[in-house]
Amino acid sequence: METFDPVVLARIQFATNMTFHILFPTISIAMGWVLLFFKTRFVATGQAHWMAAYQFWVKIFALTFALGVVSGITMSFQFGTNWPGFMTTVGNVAGPLLAYEVLTAFFLEATMLGIMLFGRGRVSERVHTIATLLVAVGTTMSAFWILALNSWMHTPTGFEMINGQAHVTSWFEVIFNPSFPYRLSHMLIASGLTVAFLLAGISAFRWLKNDRGADVNAGLRTGIYLAAFLIPIQIVVGDMHGVNTLKHQPAKIAAMEGIWETQRGAPAVLFAIPDAATQSNKYEIAIPKLASFYLTHDWNGEVKGIKEFGDLHPPVAPVFWAFRVMVGVGLLMLAVSWLSVWQTRKQQAIRPWLARVLVAMTFAGWVALLSGWYVTEIGRQPWLVHGVLTAAQAASKVPASNILITLVVYLALYVTLLISYISVVFHLAKKATLKDDAVTTEGVANAHPEVTGEKHA
Ligand code: HEM
Repeated sequence: METFDPVVLARIQFATNMTFHILFPTISIAMGWVLLFFKTRFVATGQAHWMAAYQFWVKIFALTFALGVVSGITMSFQFGTNWPGFMTTVGNVAGPLLAYEVLTAFFLEATMLGIMLFGRGRVSERVHTIATLLVAVGTTMSAFWILALNSWMHTPTGFEMINGQAHVTSWFEVIFNPSFPYRLSHMLIASGLTVAFLLAGISAFRWLKNDRGADVNAGLRTGIYLAAFLIPIQIVVGDMHGVNTLKHQPAKIAAMEGIWETQRGAPAVLFAIPDAATQSNKYEIAIPKLASFYLTHDWNGEVKGIKEFGDLHPPVAPVFWAFRVMVGVGLLMLAVSWLSVWQTRKQQAIRPWLARVLVAMTFAGWVALLSGWYVTEIGRQPWLVHGVLTAAQAASKVPASNILITLVVYLALYVTLLISYISVVFHLAKKATLKDDAVTTEGVANAHPEVTGEKHA
């Protein structure tokens, strides 16, 4: 078992947990606001299909929320089992931020979720709408605190080290640390895009099965319009995020760009195979000077190369590839969402082939999201808290064999749960398609959609 490095295993285990966990809050954050949109449209217009859309998507929200909570709990256990040095060194910062998340966000969303799921008919329509609003606010507040902590780990400010422990000197500087605004906005928009493609994909799936009621159309249009609106903003925010990272974590940018030598007029490497052994790229295809331009907004701006950082740089290949997958999926999202909007506006409906593309992209948000997350987190290595604490310093003394056994168990569990989640989402879509009493006609504001007995158009 000595062949395995316990620190590497502990990192893989935490990454496994994070990979699984992050999928679900990413959906619940934006889905909360989409549900509020459906609900307020229903209240404002009295059109029953908005409530039908609400009732379909609220089931997926509940399932997603539950998986997010459960996977979040195992993650927090790992702070203790795998990374005791983290809380010992920076617990004065991390502890309160995690507690604020539970107190101001989790309690709010968890309480209001009950009213949102089971309250309709038991409380007034207004209270039900307010509960939906508070759930959306709660999920977003959660993101605020978690990203404050995560951003602080990348760009720590507002503290001093006394006897090897971080002590806060300014909570304002801790929370609003230099990378926080970019990270929070990039992540919230990523959540919006993930939900937009989920809405569009599942609605397109139902549409292809001839379930073409107004509720399905509402989901489809909401999805493609939301995606078409958000993706250009995401690209601009992503660019600003990169410029900020160049200032604070230049080694991460060097790995993302595959730039080994410090240089002016650095090229944008479109394709290459980064080789750590020779510290160079093989089979490189690059556009001269472009990386300098988008990173420094000057064609001859200086970009530091990986060699500049000695041993204190992340592994290049995974960061380099993950960055290209994120940007590639982002560009695909741009093309598909704009084409879908164009087809719905100019040709009244999307073509079946494009609907199939949307189905294939149902979970495209997750692919971009995880790639972005890997860029960020692998790109932080070898640091856990940049410039303060390395992953190796924070790791526990648990033997490699123990970590390996639990890692295998986690992997088996998460793969099973993930397959089950995706199957249940499509199962709910199929069930809704088969249900012949779905409501599509307008103007039955207060009738429960499942008992009106109206048929699809
Ligand atoms: C297409 C243009 C895009 C650009 C230029 C871009 C840029 C970036 C950069 C520079 C980072 C790393 C920042 C750091 O760690 O310091 C990043 C991280 C990330 N990206 Fe993107 N991105 C793009 C598209 C997307 C899309 C489409 C998604 C998801 C739908 C996405 C989700 C993420 C996530 C979740 C992270 C990690 C969160 C964080 O910043 O801490 N990105 N992106």
